Amino acid sequence: MKALKSYELRQKYLDFFASKGHSVIASASLIPENDPSVLFTTAGMHPLVPYLLGQKHPAGTRLCDVQKCVRTGDIDEVGDATHCTFFEMLGNWSLGDYFKKESIEFSFEFLTGVLGIPVDKIAVTVFAGDEDCPRDTYAAGVWESLGIAKDRIFYLPKENNWWYAGATGPCGSDTEIFIDTGKPACGEHCDPSCDCGKYVEIWNNVFMEFNRTKDGKFEPLAQKNVDTGMGLERTICMLGGLQSVYETDLFAHVIEQIAALCGKTYGADEQTTRAMRIIADHMRTATFMIGDENGIVPSNVDQGYVLRRLIRRSVRFAMQLGIDAARLSDIAQAYVDQYRAYYPELGANEQKIVGEVSKEVDKFAKTLDNGIREIEKVLRYVQGDTLNGKTAFRLYDTFGFPIEMTQEICREKGYGVDLDGYRNAFAEHQKKSQAGAEQKFKGGLADSGEQTTYLHTATHLLLASLKKVLGTDDIQQKGSNITAERLRFDFNFDRPLTDSEKQAVEAAVNNAIARDIPVVCEEMTVEQAREQHAVGVFGSRYGEIVKVYTIGDVDKQICGGPHAEHTGQLGRFRIVKEQSSSAGIRRIKAVLE
Ligand code: ALA
Repeated sequence: MKALKSYELRQKYLDFFASKGHSVIASASLIPENDPSVLFTTAGMHPLVPYLLGQKHPAGTRLCDVQKCVRTGDIDEVGDATHCTFFEMLGNWSLGDYFKKESIEFSFEFLTGVLGIPVDKIAVTVFAGDEDCPRDTYAAGVWESLGIAKDRIFYLPKENNWWYAGATGPCGSDTEIFIDTGKPACGEHCDPSCDCGKYVEIWNNVFMEFNRTKDGKFEPLAQKNVDTGMGLERTICMLGGLQSVYETDLFAHVIEQIAALCGKTYGADEQTTRAMRIIADHMRTATFMIGDENGIVPSNVDQGYVLRRLIRRSVRFAMQLGIDAARLSDIAQAYVDQYRAYYPELGANEQKIVGEVSKEVDKFAKTLDNGIREIEKVLRYVQGDTLNGKTAFRLYDTFGFPIEMTQEICREKGYGVDLDGYRNAFAEHQKKSQAGAEQKFKGGLADSGEQTTYLHTATHLLLASLKKVLGTDDIQQKGSNITAERLRFDFNFDRPLTDSEKQAVEAAVNNAIARDIPVVCEEMTVEQAREQHAVGVFGSRYGEIVKVYTIGDVDKQICGGPHAEHTGQLGRFRIVKEQSSSAGIRRIKAVLE
């Protein structure tokens, strides 16, 4: 077994599967487009769902990649040896090509032959069987034939050995591969499903042969697929015989940087180590979320809220370590430098990443101390062991404490939080606050009523008109928020628009409306869209099928829709406001009358 650096493992993995006939595809965005079922890409298979369901992939039936992933379900476990909110997943796929035998053989050859892991360090699990799918003695047999001892093959139920993409969609039983760390078993029943740390999962091979329907049934898929995922961080950690992923080259220098900032030693005590790891993890995830090709910024809803929580939690742990929270942006910068060669989008968005982190840290660092003092004060007078919901809401509203943070702080002090009470207080507040409470959760295109659909089409015309009037193709959409009343559109431009420019933009949009141009939607691959000069975030989603909306000779964009059928439906377009949104970004609010 050889210690490897992250770039070596990525390369060895891709080279190995390429040598087995797999096409190397690029990582897709962390923020799924046109997939409202998940906030983030959580596995390599997410962007491949249409192909697992039977659509033809332009790169063939054998694929492999390194996919950026975010999982925040385990956020409370971050700080231990293996959990991260962001990670890179090495994956290989068979789209109706090979199945169990070859998949297991490939994994075995890679682990033992390429990585040199001794056979007796490997343990595997296979599906125990139930009414939906039989016991996987076949997979177990393949493992045995390769030399895995019988007592290292564990049969586990659906709960452990079944992979679901989501509530519905492609799924199937799996065989999971673990490294036995050599720690003594924690008891008679210790097996890989146990989290005592003896077994660390590094790879999961899913045999995707079912589609789970809305009513919970498992229907056979048109083709039998293999979907695998290997955790880059964990595998490097295991190969190096390291204590945790934070000692790998992916984290080591940031941990050093954090230690230098607070003058404490990593590993000195549990609390310090955990705090350092949380900051290292959360800031890396934040860096990738903001710097993504579909990058986001902190907000109070959806992905933006998750990002906000990660940054605010980092602020809290930074202060606990005695670090000036303003230095968190240095850590983001260190990650940009570390990853930019592999993920150029981070380099391209460097200023945005550092700027957004600084802004959010600034906003929160000011109120954090007061908020913590407030919690401590309130808890002194609490009767029983639960903080009431009204106070939890006040902490959110006044001090910017995400409810999860209030819960965490209370938990540390031995108190619970009345969540229902919090939600009621939140709802009550929304009802009262006339100013936009209704709009608050409507962001994006959540409301696809007629008016929002028309306003959406208007944003396409607006972008095209801005380019025309300002005389540059460099103008890009930097944000969009549509309610039934108005559109809000952010774009890059470094000065206010003059009155005559604004009038010219309005006139150009209204001219396109007056021409009553049909809005045509087509599906094509990203490559075709690019060839046709469609506007859009191309990122690196090779082979992905996308929708392209064309409005005559005015505009062509990759977009999920929906849109008006023809521009004449829109009415009269009027700019209500043009203002600065942030450095280098202008914001237009406009209505259709
Ligand atoms: N999709 C499988 C997983 O994430 C490979 O574990």
